[in-house]
Amino acid sequence: MTVLSLSNISRRFGPTVALDGVNLRLQKGEVHALIGENGAGKSTLMNVLAGLIKPDAGTIEVEGRAYAPASPLDARERGIALIHQELSLFPHLSVAENIMMGMEPSRLGMLDRQKLNARTAEVLRQVSRSRDQRNLHKSLSRRGARDCRQLHGPSRRAKRGHR
Ligand SMILES: Nc1ncnc2c1ncn2[C@@H]1O[C@H](COP(=O)(O)OP(=O)(O)O)[C@@H](O)[C@H]1O
Ligand SMILES: [Mg+2]
Repeated sequence: MTVLSLSNISRRFGPTVALDGVNLRLQKGEVHALIGENGAGKSTLMNVLAGLIKPDAGTIEVEGRAYAPASPLDARERGIALIHQELSLFPHLSVAENIMMGMEPSRLGMLDRQKLNARTAEVLRQVSRSRDQRNLHKSLSRRGARDCRQLHGPSRRAKRGHR
């Protein structure tokens, strides 16, 4: 089953042609590595996929449906998230707030801290880490900070508590 299909994706930055008619098809269960020299267009392609950059031409389908994300949040709603090499985190917010950034549960327009912590605990359980999600991010070891960065990636569905 084709889960992701990019057809003829092109993108220029002024005179620079970063992507020139890229085609890519991914089947369910496949893991791919995108390899190329500096400036080959890897980041641009991933940014197009994650809703950070709009392509000049081409189309994308996710699970057979047209996909043209207006923003990274929009991409996430369709199950596509990009884990950046250098991600900005908020040292003065808790681990839970960092992991749930942009998808915090709310109640009557206010942050629902109980739900925030419960959902984060669930995400942490899934990856068998037993860290207290209420800790401030800045109190974490380098390893803990790295884990927190990677955990920001898991799907919105998982964080919402869906199975
Ligand atoms: N925001 C930008 N403005 C101008 N040129 C860019 C921008 N982003 C990427 N480029 C250019 O597009 C080409 C592809 O870059 P990039 O996707 O970052 O390649 P890679 O990730 O494979 O190293 C490069 O020539 C780069 O200089
Ligand atoms: Mg790059």
